[in-house]
This record gives sequence, structure tokens and C-alpha cells, in this order.
Amino acid sequence: MEKFVWSEEYNIGINEIDGQHKHFLEIANKIIDVTIGQNPTKEQIFNLLEELGNYAFYHFGIEEGYFDKFNYQEAPLHIDAHNNYRETIRKYLEDIRKEDVDINKMTEEIVSYSTDWLLKHIVVMDKKYTQYFHEHGLN
Ligand SMILES: [Fe+2]
Repeated sequence: MEKFVWSEEYNIGINEIDGQHKHFLEIANKIIDVTIGQNPTKEQIFNLLEELGNYAFYHFGIEEGYFDKFNYQEAPLHIDAHNNYRETIRKYLEDIRKEDVDINKMTEEIVSYSTDWLLKHIVVMDKKYTQYFHEHGLN
């Protein structure tokens, strides 16, 4: 699995949010490092995947807090997209704990699903609120 490299096109122009997106991808990269090089235990993998999921949930909470605070009109659609990810990742984290799964394969699936999802979401949805957030004083 290739490690993820940040690129300028993923910056939405709001420091706090850009920092969180980068941190999310750092966790994904950490998982790739650990699974490739270090022969981790199941528990270590579960913990890292939980860290990734929990960080995403924390980050969505921050965005949704601003939607509320600024009364952002496109919030419902955007929150639906977050909820899709929340549901998918919760299901994955349940499934990967089952006895008969191939942990390496599933870890790879979860990490690539998560990074693909986030990058598309940044470009398609997050960038839509940048100007509106700027108008409300968030830079
Ligand atoms: Fe978002």
C-alpha cells in the first residue's frame, strides 16, 4: 500500500480544518508503516484503526459545530456524507474483529477506503464552505 502524500489541491484555505485533514492522513500513513514494517499484533492494528475512526468523528464534529454556529445552508447534505462514512467505518471496525477475517487485507481496505473518501470529500464538499466560513471570520 502506498503512503499518502499531501498536495496543495487538498488545502481548503481554513487553517484548523486543513491541519485536521493532514493529521487524519498522518494516522493513515502510520497504519501503513506499522502494518508493512513491524509485524504488529491484532490489538495494535485494532487500536490504530480506532484512532483513525475516532479522529474522523472528532473532525466531523468540529465541522458540524461551525455549520451550526454559522447557520450553513448546505449542512444537511454535508452531514449526510459524514454519516455515510461514520456508518461504514463503524461496520468495518466491527467486522475486522471477527475470527475469520484476513486482517492485513481488511486493514488495507479500511485505510484506502478512508483516504479515498476523505480526499474526494475535501475536494467536492469541504471546499464549498470555505468562502462562507471566511465571511464568518474563520480563516
Ligand atoms: Fe466534511
